[in-house]
Amino acid sequence: MRISTKFIETGMRLTRPIYGRNGETLLNRGTTLTTQYIMSLRRHGILTVNIDSGFEEDFSDALEDIVRCSVMKKVQHEIMVNRNRISIKNITNQVEMLIDEIISGKKIIGNLTEICSADMYTYAHSVDVCTLSLMLGIRLNYKKDKLLQLGTGCLLHDLGKTKVLPEILNKPGVLDSAEFSEIKKHPLYGYKMLLDNNEDIDPESANIVLDHHEKYDGSGYPRGLKGQEIAEMSVICAVADVYNAITTDRIYRRAMPPHEVYEMIMASGNMMFEQRVVEAFLKCIVPYNIGSIVRLSNGFVGRVCRLNPSLPLRPIIRLLDSREEINLVQEKSIVINGLLQHEDIIKEEIDRALEKVGSFKFRQDFTAI
Ligand SMILES: [Fe+2]
Ligand SMILES: [Fe+2]
Repeated sequence: MRISTKFIETGMRLTRPIYGRNGETLLNRGTTLTTQYIMSLRRHGILTVNIDSGFEEDFSDALEDIVRCSVMKKVQHEIMVNRNRISIKNITNQVEMLIDEIISGKKIIGNLTEICSADMYTYAHSVDVCTLSLMLGIRLNYKKDKLLQLGTGCLLHDLGKTKVLPEILNKPGVLDSAEFSEIKKHPLYGYKMLLDNNEDIDPESANIVLDHHEKYDGSGYPRGLKGQEIAEMSVICAVADVYNAITTDRIYRRAMPPHEVYEMIMASGNMMFEQRVVEAFLKCIVPYNIGSIVRLSNGFVGRVCRLNPSLPLRPIIRLLDSREEINLVQEKSIVINGLLQHEDIIKEEIDRALEKVGSFKFRQDFTAI
């Protein structure tokens, strides 16, 4: 899990190496943090690190930024420049790189100065959906050839959006019915683009592009397929797609907090998505990030300091006031009422500071009498 260096503690274990400004390795993967290491990281201006969250697989930890960025650029090049002559070979090469990166956790690309611009949402989305889908495929014991089919379909799943007008795609307000039905054509547009121009596209990959908006209960589009009519690889892409879309900020909507998305996906088994895929998916994501501030049902506010892998919705919370730790697995009557946003946290801190000043003043008045 990637967390801010503000929240790192001694004993946490790194799941990714940390590099300095010139690309030199500061700390290796697997290092356990000590007070000295923590001070040195802060001195080097390192803002985030990847630590072991106790989860077997953790999506936020799967790729180094540099790999994600490089794949995004290659996919963008294929989709925007080659467009109707996409090289499936180039796409599968990228998928292979992602698979290697996920499985081995090794660093593949050396260029640390590559920067991705913010206007690359579609490509970041495609790479994230592909990464998450590959992790799911690995968890479901897919072999390499199936992972390549899955990854290729997922990298290209929204290809058809290049045929939809940007004014519709990026409209900040609610879409009217004509606009919505235009958006709903993108799976078919993408499928046709692939079949018309690429003999080497695998039919399984092309089907992912066509069926990634189908739903288990038949309410999806474009074909309205139901249950087992939808291939498992398309279901994998669909869950990853929904998860990534709603956990990312867009012009027309704020990102939903991870714990709400987690609960939503948990409730979607055999309604939106096949149960088996939902169960595998829930093992790849975490509902609460270490360091996030939560309000508890007993009125206290605390920071998530550790996770319970067997019960991800019941983490260990350290109270902001007393620094006492509450393990929500043991304290069954206490629940998390919500995540605090940045503005709420500042307000909470001001209130607590005022309370302290108040009690100090009271003590002074008291002793003065
Ligand atoms: Fe889509
Ligand atoms: Fe998508």
